[in-house]
Formats: sequence, structure tokens, C-alpha cells
Amino acid sequence: MKLSKRVTGKPLYLFAEIDRAREEAVARGLDVVSMGIADPDLPPPDWLYALLQEEVRRPGNHRYPDYRGLPEFLDAVVEWMGERFEVGDLDAQTEVITLLGAKEGVAHMAWAMCDPGDMALIPEPAYPVYSANCQYAGADVHYLDLTQEGNFLPELGSVPEDVARRAKVFYINYPNNPTGACAPSAFFQELIAFAKKYEIAILADNAYSEVYFDENERPQSILEFPGAKDVCLEFHSFSKTFNMTGWRIGWAVGNAKLVKALLTIKSNVDSGQFNAIQHALARTMRHPERDAFLEKNRERIRERRDIVAAALDEMGIWHPDPKATYFFWCRLPEGHEDGIRFASELLLQEGFVVAPGAGYGPHGKDYFRLSLTTPEEDIRKGMAKLKRFMGK
Ligand SMILES: Cc1ncc(COP(=O)(O)O)c(C=O)c1O
Repeated sequence: MKLSKRVTGKPLYLFAEIDRAREEAVARGLDVVSMGIADPDLPPPDWLYALLQEEVRRPGNHRYPDYRGLPEFLDAVVEWMGERFEVGDLDAQTEVITLLGAKEGVAHMAWAMCDPGDMALIPEPAYPVYSANCQYAGADVHYLDLTQEGNFLPELGSVPEDVARRAKVFYINYPNNPTGACAPSAFFQELIAFAKKYEIAILADNAYSEVYFDENERPQSILEFPGAKDVCLEFHSFSKTFNMTGWRIGWAVGNAKLVKALLTIKSNVDSGQFNAIQHALARTMRHPERDAFLEKNRERIRERRDIVAAALDEMGIWHPDPKATYFFWCRLPEGHEDGIRFASELLLQEGFVVAPGAGYGPHGKDYFRLSLTTPEEDIRKGMAKLKRFMGK
């Protein structure tokens, strides 16, 4: 049998590889602690279990869902966008679509937009799903470097004219995985003008909008800015907001033509999300204890951030202070030049899992990423393992 070029000789998804190495460390008898994948250890809201149980028992919920999404769910999304982001004027029927998680949405959007020979603009380091799917669809990828000096924002002026003219999509992700950076209003405005000039779709991944540290610096939606809806589709997720990565639900919102393009692909690939889950989440988005849950959740992540920041500073490991997300983007300590080797030796010697920066693109090669989705006790253990590994 001959497999496609898409898969031949290609690695599994980054974390599938890390999971394999982790199993090897466990088999060696190490007490393994992970700050690798961003998979929240904290539970979803209590009330959500009861809502799901109720909805699972409703007979009507067991049939194929509507491809675009359940009307109650789409309406709840429109309310949420208005309340949380002050994005008004959304049409639940044409400008919103339910996703099986933001990952599925950003991946299928590449297929909806790109033909072989098209160009995709992707900042780097980045969540690897954007470039993988643009390349599956046959597009060329032009990477824009995210650097500390550039506040981890892509420099739009660096895109050559011919590349901009060929481009079909521009992926962005703020709050950013893996750097923890947020984007200021001026960047969103500049990007919208750029996308309009070159007729490019902005695909804005906002999966971490609710994992922020400072109430006065809440992450924004690009749809808050004038003209965004002409060129933009934004992706949201319940995974991190309500600690429910396994449930697989999110939404995309924005330009109606882009929503329809995504629906065309999705309706030929999947058959929507379970209605019971959509009902339970619609009720969760309107739940009276919603804000209290979200704030308590953030409080825990803030405590963890403080533990990690203090430990890294003590070890002299450079990192930007994350404004949002779970992530510490750490420069490799002196004496270590190969990030993949650093991560695998740290795992096999000490049993501490970190994500090697190279998994997010060439600019990540001098970094490793820590995720705050680990209990405090394990975070402390992990920091002690790192310290020992560095010989400090
Ligand atoms: C930037 C980014 N987008 C999307 C996702 C996946 O979100 P979901 O679980 O909704 O598919 C992740 C998960 O790590 C992510 O880091």
C-alpha cells in the first residue's frame, strides 16, 4: 500500500510524540511530572454535570444535530459575544457556526480557503495546526517571525508585496500559544487594514480569551474593531474557558461568507456536535454562577503563574511575563543549545515533561514551553526537577 505524501515520513502531532517519550520515562520507573500539554487538570463547573445528565436524557437530543449548530447554542454565542466583548450586530443564522473544538475549526478553514499554490501567512512560533493544514491543502506558507523585540507581534511591513498579493489567509492567535503574549488594539486595526488591502481572510484563534491575569487587560476580540467582519472569522473554544478539553466544542464567528465556506467543508466531513452538549453549553453560557466560576479558575492559574515565575527567576531562566494563557515561554538555560535534546534529557533523566519550542516552529528552537495546567504540588516538583537537571 502506498500512503499519501501528506503522511509519508511525517511525524505525529507534537504531543503524540511527547506522550510516547513520557510512557518510556514511566516504564523506566521515573516519577513523571508534566507541564507539557495545555490540558487543564481543574474540573469543569459543577452544575455542568447535572445539565449534561438532564440533556442526555431528552429523547430529541439523540438524533443528528443541525450542521451549523443548535439555534439555542448559536443564540447563546451571540449573547456571549455581545456581553463579553461588546461585539453587537451578529446574526446567529449566518455569522456563527458550532465547532468540534477550535482545533477542528482552524484546521478545516485552511481546506475551505486554500488551493494548491496559494499562500498562507502564519506567524511563528505558532500552534502547529495552522501550517499543517495549509500545507495539506497544498498552500505555501510564508512565516512571520514573532520575536521578543517585536513583542511577539508579526511585522506586517515585512511581508513582500508579491507574497501579500498571493495570500489567501492570515492566521493569528492572541492571547498567544506558545508565547503568552496579547495583541494591542493598534495591531488588530493595522491587520484589518492590511487584510482589506490584499483581500486576505484573517483567521483569528481566540481559544485563550478567558485565561487572563489582569482584569484591566482582558483579551479582546478582533470583531470589536470596525471593518473586522468584512474580512475575519474568529475561533472560540470551551476547552480552556470551562476546563473541558475532552468535550470537543467551540464556535467560529464573523464573516458570513467565511462561515458558509467552513460549513461546506464541515458538512461533508462531520455531522455536528451532540445536541445534549450544545444545550448544556448554551445553558452554561447563561448560568448565574458563570462569572464566579471563571474568576475562581483564573485565581488558581494566577497562583500557579506566581510559583513558576519565582522559580524560573531564581534559576535565572529568561521568560516573558505571560499576560494571558497558561504558558511560560522559556529560553534554554546556558549550556543547552538543542531544545529537543534538552526536553528529552530532562524527561529521561528527571521525569519532567516540557514542550520543546521547536515544535512550534524554527524560532522556537531556543525555547521550551511550560503549561500551568498541572496541580500546584506537581508544579513545585517539576521546578525542583528542573533545578536539579541544571545542576543548581
Ligand atoms: C492556540 C490554540 N488553539 C486551539 C486549541 C485547541 O482548542 P480546542 O480544544 O477547542 O480544539 C489549542 C489547544 O491547545 C490552542 O493552543
